[in-house]
Amino acid sequence: ADSRRESLMIVSGFAAKFFQESMWDTDEGKSIGLSYFKERGFTPEVMRKFELGYSPDQWEAFTGAALSAGYQQEFLEESGLSVKRDNGSLYDRYRGRVMFPIHSFTGRVIAFGGRTLKSDKNVPKYVNSPESEIYHKSNVLYGLFFAKKSIRDLDNCYLVEGYADVLSVHQAGIENVVASSGTSLTVEQIRLIGRLTQNITILYDGDAAGIKASLRGLDLILEEGLNVKVVSFPDGHDPDSYVRKVGSTAFKQHIDQNKKDFILYKTSILLKDAGTDPLRRAEVIREVVESIAKIPDHIKASVFIKECSYQMQIEERVLLSELNKMRLAKA
Ligand code: UTP
Ligand code: MN
Ligand code: MN
Ligand code: MN
Ligand code: MN
Repeated sequence: ADSRRESLMIVSGFAAKFFQESMWDTDEGKSIGLSYFKERGFTPEVMRKFELGYSPDQWEAFTGAALSAGYQQEFLEESGLSVKRDNGSLYDRYRGRVMFPIHSFTGRVIAFGGRTLKSDKNVPKYVNSPESEIYHKSNVLYGLFFAKKSIRDLDNCYLVEGYADVLSVHQAGIENVVASSGTSLTVEQIRLIGRLTQNITILYDGDAAGIKASLRGLDLILEEGLNVKVVSFPDGHDPDSYVRKVGSTAFKQHIDQNKKDFILYKTSILLKDAGTDPLRRAEVIREVVESIAKIPDHIKASVFIKECSYQMQIEERVLLSELNKMRLAKA
């Protein structure tokens, strides 16, 4: 089984090299893939570091090269790099896409995300590797290999939504950044971060969907005992587009000035939603206390109760009795 895993990683590494060469050393790659990344503002250094590439717009460019180089069909298929036709022959999963290799914690290539260059609504924006023996997407964070040292040193991990966000934020000099890449954040991903730091700062897309999604996913982080802060961006912006718009200095300033503790952020958003309706405000109180009840450290929880009681204009003892009820219900 270990040798199968190793074979899959070797073929993935070969593919990463193939896509890189296709981007840097071919006319098609340079005029389509490389110029796309350049237009998005990525520097050659970041492109090389993250091993970005381009998949030629042909049916068998990669598969043909891999078979000629002696890679076995079985591993091409299992890695998802090639797809089997009814007649048994293989074709390339990624065609005419810019390629983002996904690295393991130790820096091996284990999967890919490939972005289309078309704006056709019927074409999926990203095609990702399927699950395989080496790639379980719920256990992987995009960018973690490049971020881990900085996460430890700075004792904080920035979490973004997408590949491009990781690259842009990294390029802006903030290297402690990873993405959950499409899936909602999993417990496994949180534990990966938890080995490096107890502090997560979420930088999500500034659309309503992004904000609502973050409210739901984040209780999971509290349950794991980590501290969560949230930074939002002006509507329509994600971290990538925002850093490109304002530059890295103003971007860092925005983060520092808009970092909010998750619980207080959640309280303020829900309160705003509820307006002055007393029943809805009561519902908000319950929801917030529910989040606080997930914090395993009771001292930390009591600090939040104090702050929320101020924010919600409700007596601390009322919140505390609600908190205790919830803890008893869970136990
Ligand atoms: P977004 O739609 O926010 O894309 O999806 P993005 O990262 O901002 O991409 P650009 O800037 O348009 O290039 C966020 C993440 O969700 C996953 C990808 O990991 C993406 O980076 N995703 C999105 C998919 O896996 N498939 C999709 O079709 C779309
Ligand atoms: Mn498995
Ligand atoms: Mn989005
Ligand atoms: Mn984007
Ligand atoms: Mn986005």
